[in-house]
Amino acid sequence: MSIIAVGSAKASPGATSLAVGLGLSWAAITGRKAVLIEADGDGGVLAARYGLALNPSLVELSGAARHELTVDRLQSSCQLLAGQLPCLVAPGCGETTSRVLAAMGGRLLGDLGRVDGIDVVADIGRIRASSPVAELVKRCDLLVLVVRPEFDQLVPFVHQARRMTASRIPTALVCVGGRPYPPTEMAKASGLDLLGVMAHDARVDRILGGGIPGNQRHRRLLLWRTLGELVHRIHYRLQAPSLGNKAA
Ligand SMILES: Nc1ncnc2c1ncn2[C@@H]1O[C@H](COP(=O)(O)OP(=O)(O)O)[C@@H](O)[C@H]1O
Ligand SMILES: [Mg+2]
Repeated sequence: MSIIAVGSAKASPGATSLAVGLGLSWAAITGRKAVLIEADGDGGVLAARYGLALNPSLVELSGAARHELTVDRLQSSCQLLAGQLPCLVAPGCGETTSRVLAAMGGRLLGDLGRVDGIDVVADIGRIRASSPVAELVKRCDLLVLVVRPEFDQLVPFVHQARRMTASRIPTALVCVGGRPYPPTEMAKASGLDLLGVMAHDARVDRILGGGIPGNQRHRRLLLWRTLGELVHRIHYRLQAPSLGNKAA
């Protein structure tokens, strides 16, 4: 299994939406199953945003995690987002989520590492030095740092990118939208590889909430095309031995 962490340095650039979009597009592009884990220490939004139940959630999985984690156990704590993507939601309360994530910590990771045949997209929210998912960030196969190419996001983003690079965490950049700054400038300033751009679309919540269309023609929507491209590039990077933790 590969673990792809999706997070941001500041504000709300669209990390959760990107994580959902990657998760929904994953199987169609890679032929592998994906599960979305909402590991955001500020608390979850997936249940509220996509009309899911409050449980099962991370809380139920943390109870079950006394036993060895299997695909079955993981999936039984998941709900289906848009009827398609198995998704482990976090409680809406940040304190509860942080407590559960901190308690599960490295054990969840160790267990995930042993689960075969499924890849994990983890929405880790805003990355902080004292994050309850610091261990997950250290050991992910790829950290996708999400940013809007805007002036007020530049400084915190560059700072975070440098911190990740100095910690030898394999990190790449995704911009949400391509304006006002060219995403290539954001990449240059941060020293990160630019994976690509997720199209800016004001209807993003509704589109993702409807799931990935079965019909190829409907997938021509720019948002789905850009998500498909990003999955391609991430998948390629995970295969390339010199670009991720898998090389170690
Ligand atoms: N690609 C996008 N195009 C337009 N709006 C977006 C896009 N992605 C996210 N948004 C909007 O930005 C806001 C924050 O998105 P969210 O994914 O929750 O960000 P984060 O997880 O970084 O806080 C939401 O209102 C969402 O609809
Ligand atoms: Mg979020």
